Amino acid sequence: MNDTAHTPAGRMAALRARLGGIGFGADYNPEQWPEATRAEDLALMAEAGVTVVNLAIFAWARVEPARDAYDFGYFDRVMDDLAAHGITADLATMTAAPPPWLVTEHPEVLPVTAAGTVLSPGGRQHFCPSSPVFRDRAARLVEAVATHYRGHPALGLWHVGNEYGCHVSECFCAASAADFRRWLTDRYKDVDALNDAWSTDFWSQRYASFDQVLPPREAPTYPNPSQQLDFKRFSNDALRACFELETDILRRVTPEIPVTTNFLAGLKSVDMYDWAPAMDALSLDSYPDPNWEHAHIGAAMSYDGIRCAGGGEPWLLTEQAPSAVNWRARNAGKEPGNMRLWSWQAVAQGADAIMYFQWRQSRGGAEKFHSGMVPHAGPDTRVFQEVAALGRELAMVPELVGTRVRNRVALLSDWNSWWALELDSHPSDGVRHLDRAFDHYAPLFDLGIGVDVVHPDADLSDYRLVVVPSLYLLSAEHGDKLSRYVADGGSLVVSFFSGIVDEHDRVHLGGYPGPLREALGISVQEFWPADTGAVFPVQGAGDSGTADLWREDVTLKGARAELEFVGPEWDGRPAATVHSHGTGTARYIATRPDPATMRDLMARACTEAGVEPVLPALPQGVQAVVRANAEHDVLLLLNHTNTTHTIELPTPRHNLLSPTRPLTTHITLPPRDIAALGTPPTPTHPTPISPSGV
Ligand code: GAL
Repeated sequence: MNDTAHTPAGRMAALRARLGGIGFGADYNPEQWPEATRAEDLALMAEAGVTVVNLAIFAWARVEPARDAYDFGYFDRVMDDLAAHGITADLATMTAAPPPWLVTEHPEVLPVTAAGTVLSPGGRQHFCPSSPVFRDRAARLVEAVATHYRGHPALGLWHVGNEYGCHVSECFCAASAADFRRWLTDRYKDVDALNDAWSTDFWSQRYASFDQVLPPREAPTYPNPSQQLDFKRFSNDALRACFELETDILRRVTPEIPVTTNFLAGLKSVDMYDWAPAMDALSLDSYPDPNWEHAHIGAAMSYDGIRCAGGGEPWLLTEQAPSAVNWRARNAGKEPGNMRLWSWQAVAQGADAIMYFQWRQSRGGAEKFHSGMVPHAGPDTRVFQEVAALGRELAMVPELVGTRVRNRVALLSDWNSWWALELDSHPSDGVRHLDRAFDHYAPLFDLGIGVDVVHPDADLSDYRLVVVPSLYLLSAEHGDKLSRYVADGGSLVVSFFSGIVDEHDRVHLGGYPGPLREALGISVQEFWPADTGAVFPVQGAGDSGTADLWREDVTLKGARAELEFVGPEWDGRPAATVHSHGTGTARYIATRPDPATMRDLMARACTEAGVEPVLPALPQGVQAVVRANAEHDVLLLLNHTNTTHTIELPTPRHNLLSPTRPLTTHITLPPRDIAALGTPPTPTHPTPISPSGV
C-alpha cells in the first residue's frame, strides 16, 4: 500500500475500481433466513446485477451473543460467498442495536427522554450516545470486527452504525447531562460566557457554575431557547463522537477501506455538513412518499444537499424502497416505472450507487410489510423484474462514475438555523425549515435550473444567484459574507424571517434582518404572521397573485417594491423588494407568495443574474442534469410527468441506453421514462492514421 491508498481519494478510487460502474445492491440480511436460501440469493443477485450489499447492520446479538464471546462463523460464510460471487460488502460495524445481554447487564445504556422516560429495548437504536459503557462495548466490537475482516476479499466499504439519530437523537439521562456540561465547559470556558450567550438573566436562570446546568428536560414552560439550541448541537456532536470513535478504529485497522454512514433524507437531528469531513463517501437513504405529488422535487432537494455536503463528490444512495415502505400511515407502492425513474434521478444528481432496503422482504419482524427486492411472492414478480432490469441498465453507463454536477444557483441551508427556527415561542409555528427551503427550491426545479444546496460556509464565488429561504439564524460573519457577495456583483434572494438571530439565538438589533438590512435596502419593524388559511392579494408590475403564512411591514431604505400587498390596511406596502448594492442585486420576499408568483419572482432573479436552465424550453416536469468530468459529459433527462415529451437536443448526443449508442438529435420520453445521452468521445490523442493512409 502506498500513501495515496490511505487518503479519502485513494480509498474511493479503490472502491470504484472494485465496483466497475454504478454500484447496485441492497441491505442484505441473510441471517433472517435459513442458510440454504443464500444459494438462491446469490443466483438472483447475479441476475439483477448486484455488485454491493450493506451487510450485518443489525447483527451485534449474533456476532457477540454474550459479552466478549465473538462468533464470526456465520458471517465468515456469508462474506466468503459474497467474495466468490464478486459482490462487495459494505460491512457494518454492527453497533446500531445493542444486544439483550448488554442492556440486561447495563440498563444505564438505555436512552432517556426529556420527560424522564427510559426507552426500553425491543426496537433498535436504544442507546445513549454519551454512555461510557455503550461507547466502550461498541469500540470493542468494532475492533474485533475490523481485525477479523481485515484483508477479506469481500470487504470494500465500512458502514458505521446506521442512520444515526433516526429514532433516538437526544438523551437526557445523567450521563448525557455530565457530557453536556463537559461540552459546555469546552465551548464557553467561563460560566459567565454561557450566562451571556443564553440570556440567563431572563427568568432568573443565572448559573454560578457549570455543575448547575442540566439538559433542557421537560419544564413548566418553554426551556431556555439558547440552552435548547446548544443541546441540539451537543446531541449532534455526541452522535458524531460515536461515529468518530468507530471510524478512528477502522482507519487504524484497515486504512485502505473507505468509511461511510448513511444519513436519512430530511432528518433534523444530524448535521450532514458537519459530519461530512469525517467520511470518505457520503451516503443517503431516501424514501419519497409516492402519495405526494411533489415527491420527486423533495427528493431532488435532498440529493442536491448530500452532494454538496460532500463537496460535490459523487455520493451513494444506500437505501430506498423497491416499492412500499411500512412506516407511514398509508404505504403506497411505487407505480410501474417509478422506482426506475427515481433511481435514475439519484444517479443524475450525483449518486454513484443505487441500493435498497432490503434484498429479501422479511418474513417476520417489524418490517415484514416493507417491500424488498425479492418480495414475499418471490422473484417472479413485477418488483423483482423491475429492479433486475434496472441493475442491468445501470451497468450500461460506467462512464457516469466519478462525474460531477455543476450548478450556478446556491440555496443556503444550515442545521443550526433549522434547529433554532423550529424552537417554541416564535411568531408562528408555521415557518418550518424544510417547507421554506422547498418553497424556493421547487420553482427553480420547475424552471429547469440546477441548484446546489450548500452551507453558508461554502465558497459562493462561483454562483450567480444565492437563495436564502427563511434562514432565521445567521451569524454576523455570514451576514457580512452575503452582503459582500452582493456588493461584488452577486444576486441574492432572501425571504422573510432570515437573519433574525445570531449563533446564540439572540436577536440582531436595530431592525430586521440585522446583518442583511444594508444589502437588501430595507428595514422591518414588526412581523404579522398570518392565521391558518388566511390569504392576501399581492400585485406586481403586470402580474397579480396571492400570498399567505406571513406578512411584515417593510420600510424601503433604498430598495424598490416589485410586489405589493393589495387591500385595506396593507394596500401598497412592499411584499417583495429589489435593491442594487455595489455591483450586485439583492431581493427580499416579505411573505409567502403562491407558487406561480414565486416562480415569476425566481425566474426574474435568474434571468437578471444570467442563470440559464440546463436545457432551453424543457417541458415542466422534465428534469435535465449534466454529469461531467474531463472525459465524459452525460445529459440525463427524466420525465416526471404522465405525458410523452419529445426533447430537441442543442447538439447531437449518443443514446447510451441503446446497445449501439446511436447519435440522436432528439429524444422521445414516454411517461416516467429517462434517457442518458453522452457527447461523442473526444479523442485524447490525434486519430491514428492507418499505415495505408486511409
Ligand atoms: C431506514 C433504516 C432501515 C430500514 C428502512 C425502512 O430508516 O435504515 O434499516 O428500517 O428505514 O424504510
